[in-house]
Amino acid sequence: MNQADNFTSELLIKAGVKKGSKVLDIGCGRGDVSLLAADLVGSEGDVVGVDIDSGSIDVARKKINDLTISNVSFYTTDASKVSETIGKFDVIVGRRVLMYQIKPVEFIRNLQKCLKKNGMIAFQEHDMEMVPSNTQPMPLHCKVQKWLRHTISYEGADTSIGFNLYDIFTKAGFKVKEMKAEPIIQTPIEPYNVAAIVEAILPRILASNAATKDEIEIETLEARLSEERSKSNAIYR
Ligand SMILES: C[S@@+](CC[C@H](N)C(=O)[O-])C[C@H]1O[C@@H](n2cnc3c(N)ncnc32)[C@H](O)[C@@H]1O
Repeated sequence: MNQADNFTSELLIKAGVKKGSKVLDIGCGRGDVSLLAADLVGSEGDVVGVDIDSGSIDVARKKINDLTISNVSFYTTDASKVSETIGKFDVIVGRRVLMYQIKPVEFIRNLQKCLKKNGMIAFQEHDMEMVPSNTQPMPLHCKVQKWLRHTISYEGADTSIGFNLYDIFTKAGFKVKEMKAEPIIQTPIEPYNVAAIVEAILPRILASNAATKDEIEIETLEARLSEERSKSNAIYR
């Protein structure tokens, strides 16, 4: 399990996801958070994942078919318009989805319809305010982070979402129980596969003019990042 998934699993447990829970995963993408939740709820519980992108839902469905998992279902839906017809849930989760909403307060407020009494909403977002941080020069790591930041800013994402979460949830009418921030740390022996992320969103990086294909050189990016970490023998976050 990578660092982001570890954080997510802990968040799900803290939010009360347990055997028998009913969980709604908002902006489920390819289903990674739904699968972590499915593990926790077991066969007595169930997980519903929704995403606006039908291509991602196809990938998520294929995953559960391949793994023969029966307590998860996926639907293509705009989560800003979900209604109680999808069901009532003990816990509603979302990872890296609120940052992309134009009206985050309305988005969260609308989810209340799908929450059981005393239910919990838990969101994990990606804030870019206090990164990068490094004491040794790591120019390639900084450059890659700049490409990612430029791309999602260009797409209209809120890169300061972490600092805005309290405001969003309280304005949406919720009581904030707990907030936690955790950096992703890369070391020579524990990398976070940033090159895979760059590869996955390469067309978006190019469309935003954050970098050219030649600058990125995706075929060698992972090796170059790894070499930079090994040479510095330092950590990067
Ligand atoms: C960065 S991905 C994260 C995917 C997944 N939550 C994860 O962590 O692996 C953001 C996802 O949110 C979805 N999304 C954004 N706005 C949405 C909306 N209004 N309704 C449903 N899905 C949405 C996107 O299609 C995309 O799959």
